[in-house]
Amino acid sequence: MTGIEYDDFLDLAYEPAASDLVCDFRLEPAEGMSMEAAASRVASESSNGTWAALHVDEDELTHLGAVACDIDGDRVTVAYPEELFEPGSMPQILSCIAGNIMGMKAVDTIRLLDCHWPEGLAQSFPGPQFGTSVAHEKLDAGDRPVLATVPKPKVGLSTEAHVRVGEEAWRGGIDLLKDDENLTDQEFNPFEDRLAESLAARDRVQEDVGERKDYLVNVTGETTEMLERVDLVADHGGGFVMVDVITCGWSAVQSVRQRCDDHGLAIHAHRAMHAAFDRLPHHGVSMRVLAQIARLTGVDHIHTGTAGLGKLANEDTPGINEWLTGDLYGLEPVLPVASGGLHPGVVDQLLEALGTDIIVQAGGGIHGHPDGTHAGAKALRQAIDASVEGVALEEYAAEHAELETALEKWGAETPR
Ligand code: 3PG
Repeated sequence: MTGIEYDDFLDLAYEPAASDLVCDFRLEPAEGMSMEAAASRVASESSNGTWAALHVDEDELTHLGAVACDIDGDRVTVAYPEELFEPGSMPQILSCIAGNIMGMKAVDTIRLLDCHWPEGLAQSFPGPQFGTSVAHEKLDAGDRPVLATVPKPKVGLSTEAHVRVGEEAWRGGIDLLKDDENLTDQEFNPFEDRLAESLAARDRVQEDVGERKDYLVNVTGETTEMLERVDLVADHGGGFVMVDVITCGWSAVQSVRQRCDDHGLAIHAHRAMHAAFDRLPHHGVSMRVLAQIARLTGVDHIHTGTAGLGKLANEDTPGINEWLTGDLYGLEPVLPVASGGLHPGVVDQLLEALGTDIIVQAGGGIHGHPDGTHAGAKALRQAIDASVEGVALEEYAAEHAELETALEKWGAETPR
């Protein structure tokens, strides 16, 4: 028997094992607390320690205890043994690495910056079903970015108006019609009516233009309800669902991923509320980690920002996208979504910053076009075509009236 205390979880000589989950934190210790003491408390509280000395078998404690193994300025690395975790359970993992420690008095602020996932734990999750391959398997985007639009106003359109806007956008060259994050099943636009009528419109458009189109219908809701909505999407012949992954929670995302597997449906992840975790640079959970969780739990697309070119605060979009599309023990890559304040005039800079393996999503930047949604969709597609062909937007606009009008209206402004 031994007494293990808060301060016993620091070992700067420890080399993490290949099977460890290694997490990078930024810490600001509380007044009067050294970085070493704070780091040890973080490792303890997030694994198997507590504030009081515990008198238990030493082997048991060291077996499941995390180790604060590196301190570099305000950066602390903590290595967690894989036996601490329940394989395939994201809620359980987060209750360790982003649980009590986020509120402990030993630190003034603490931010989970990055995770290095070991093979065993990563492979206990399904990862995406389609990922980047949706561009070819479900759509006809080829090597250009996939284009999506969300009708505006984001809520309030009747089903008829919503479908009409979607149809105009598809005919103008958009691949995916998307619901907004707070449109689900309200009285003014019921879920099943919108689903049925939008997919009927999709079929008409596909027939006319000879290009595959689809609809990202927002199935967000209570988990059982959400699974029923997923079934309805399959019944009506849809190819995708959209989920507000942060507000639903990762457990619900895992349930949706399983159900989507039964139907061959891809998952578009909207990240509404992410900034409650990731906006303050010294506290919370980074968007990079949220994106990692999204990939493991199996979404096919996730919004990762616009590299500062849209309306949202700047973040490390290129770095996050690189992680989402990089190697992860054979798990499919995720197709990143650039969205929020985009319009045709910033498309060239966007593709230069993020490449073409993305979804470009624009709401106001299409429906706010002076000549309406159809012209706005054409302008966005023209801006994409120009950028992919390496032609300057102004030069392309000389021969494409819709793009010319969009550039006259917005230039290359980045909205706030
Ligand atoms: C989204 O779902 O990302 C937003 O509703 C995008 O809207 P916007 O293009 O008008 O900013």
